[in-house]
Amino acid sequence: MQDIGDVAEAFRTARGFGSSPLYSRLLAVVAEDRSLLELAARTRPGQQPTFALFGAVHYLLLAGARDPLAEYYPSVAGAAARPVDGCTGPAFARFCAAYSDPIASLLGTRLVQTNHVQRALVLRLGLALLRRAASAPVCVVEVGCSAGLNLRADRYAYTVGGAPVGDRSSPVQIKVEVPDASLLPDLDRLPEIADAVGIDLAPPDLTDTDDRAWLRALVWPENSHQAAQLQAAMAVVAADTPRVVAGNAIEIGHPVAATLPPGLPRLVVHTATRIHVPAKDRPAFDAAVAAFGADGPLLHLALEDDQLVAPSGRSGFGLSATDARGSRTIAVADGHLAWLEPLPPMNGTPWL
Ligand SMILES: C[S@@+](CC[C@H](N)C(=O)[O-])C[C@H]1O[C@@H](n2cnc3c(N)ncnc32)[C@H](O)[C@@H]1O
Repeated sequence: MQDIGDVAEAFRTARGFGSSPLYSRLLAVVAEDRSLLELAARTRPGQQPTFALFGAVHYLLLAGARDPLAEYYPSVAGAAARPVDGCTGPAFARFCAAYSDPIASLLGTRLVQTNHVQRALVLRLGLALLRRAASAPVCVVEVGCSAGLNLRADRYAYTVGGAPVGDRSSPVQIKVEVPDASLLPDLDRLPEIADAVGIDLAPPDLTDTDDRAWLRALVWPENSHQAAQLQAAMAVVAADTPRVVAGNAIEIGHPVAATLPPGLPRLVVHTATRIHVPAKDRPAFDAAVAAFGADGPLLHLALEDDQLVAPSGRSGFGLSATDARGSRTIAVADGHLAWLEPLPPMNGTPWL
């Protein structure tokens, strides 16, 4: 159970929902409705109640709950979906009242685990930066990897700044708008991966129908391309799952680090993870990430909630890179990685 004042604040101040007209409207609806806030407060501590409540409702609609609210969801109603109007909020409130028990049950058991395959570019970028610096095999760690889809960043096809890179034959197609790709390292030149491991509080099981349905429900109703990308990646990764260790990175970071071959460079990545760590635990989370550098040179990439303005003037989030020399912001990107604008430090002195 979360504090209701904090929950109201989360709905009032939520950012980054711009690509979902439906959720953008519902944020304001929930923020002003005491019953909806009480329901959203059933979200597990530390989890963002916005993503959690919207995910739970979407899950029930995708599972076939018959209700007029479904008419507003393109993921359910398709092209015939109703545009957001004055009846959307009341329909959402009625649905939540009618389905409060299953919604509360989902909120009490599920985590916000949106595995956005588009963000695999961050890991691939890290690999390419390491390869540019040295030819040694590397270890890869993703903290908060959800189902581990982005740990397979080397298996996907990308179009980055208009140029194809990666495994062109992959069913997983990732297109990222990059206005000036000249600052990027060669994304087709990757080091050998000596070991890859993910850490997650509760990794979804890609062989479990319900876990897959929850991951699908976390994709916003309008984002049909993201949903198709997710399904394709789940099929690729289910056929060859990476090593994913269940637990809190703060507690299991050190033991997992100890399993990596000593001396090899290690790339540690987290995207949209630290934002879901309770604020009081973030220093311990940061220390657990830094500890991966104890037995080998560390490059740490993070795309979280560092709000910045990109060179083109659009708002995004900073992509930070940290090694023994310190921390630099190497790009500003959209939170869903629809676009990425590299900054000059991307091309600076070799990493590590
Ligand atoms: C929003 S998802 C992002 C998943 C993935 N990084 C991506 O960008 O697609 C955040 C993930 O971080 C995990 N997580 C949050 N706090 C964590 C912690 N302290 N230790 C390990 N995993 C954590 C959650 O379980 C969830 O799967």
